[in-house]
Amino acid sequence: MFEDEVRDHVNDVISEPPCSSEDPLKSTHTWVKLRELSEGYSGRVVLAQHIKSHQKKAIKLLKRGASTTKRADKEVQTMMLLSVHPHIIRFEEVFLTPQYLGIVLEYAAGGDLSDYIKRKTVNKNSSMSRALPESLTRVLFHQIMSALEFCHDRGITNRDIKAENILVMDEKESESQGIPVVLKMCDFGFSKDQRFDSACKTMCGTAEYIAPEVMEQKPYDGKQADIWSAGVLLFVMLTGRYPFSRATDARLNTGLALQRTHWTGSPRKASLSTRGSA
Ligand SMILES: Nc1ncnc2c1ncn2[C@@H]1O[C@H](COP(=O)(O)OP(=O)(O)OP(=O)(O)O)[C@@H](O)[C@H]1O
Ligand SMILES: [Mg+2]
Repeated sequence: MFEDEVRDHVNDVISEPPCSSEDPLKSTHTWVKLRELSEGYSGRVVLAQHIKSHQKKAIKLLKRGASTTKRADKEVQTMMLLSVHPHIIRFEEVFLTPQYLGIVLEYAAGGDLSDYIKRKTVNKNSSMSRALPESLTRVLFHQIMSALEFCHDRGITNRDIKAENILVMDEKESESQGIPVVLKMCDFGFSKDQRFDSACKTMCGTAEYIAPEVMEQKPYDGKQADIWSAGVLLFVMLTGRYPFSRATDARLNTGLALQRTHWTGSPRKASLSTRGSA
């Protein structure tokens, strides 16, 4: 039932956990690591500085191996195609080190949207919690939907829309352009391009955001599944909570169980943890 690339990738991730103490960019003689930004499902993301120009970039490092190289090829090709859009993170270049494949991306200084929502959420532990004001959410969600429409118009589905995969650009710079915040979509690691790829059938994504049909282990419409996840994201932006997150929620629990069993060998969770919603 699972696509080979997912199974191979899972094996790579489990067998070679990343080590965050050394500078993984040392052998490039071009980049210096400043700090870790995240350690995720498919690798790690570091903030790096270019030795000559002093420019800061985010570099996504994928451990080299047959499966990651295949997956990274696809991610890079997709990003090259899409990153001309103002709300999709700009791809800059790709390089190899003995251990890693590095994808250089423009740096989003505001972190990701889940951190931004957490910073703005008031009454965090109450069922009356409020996150972003409606007027701001309208502007920000429009940016996200314009990026998603751009992908879908080109036959590309993201399959992992969530707050952690939406980046927040430098807030001061955005304000100077008269926009409260500029958001950019990132992470096309699970994307599918309908021109080259098989139909969507792999269960992937993040349990809190996943569309019910994706769990049915049958082919599904990736665009519709993205729209479901975008709906969950809209709820999260407004409330700071997930719409389906009760401990007794059968659908969520099925999703988490499937993640544990089939996707990565360990639960791959979205990072907002506030529970107790409808
Ligand atoms: N260009 C960037 N600027 C700033 N932060 C970034 C950038 N790209 C990624 N990040 C941070 O790194 C995190 C992981 O990035 P990304 O989703 O691309 O990697 P991943 O390995 O696929 O992770 P995951 O499996 O957790 O989704 C993002 O949620 C964000 O916090
Ligand atoms: Mg991600």
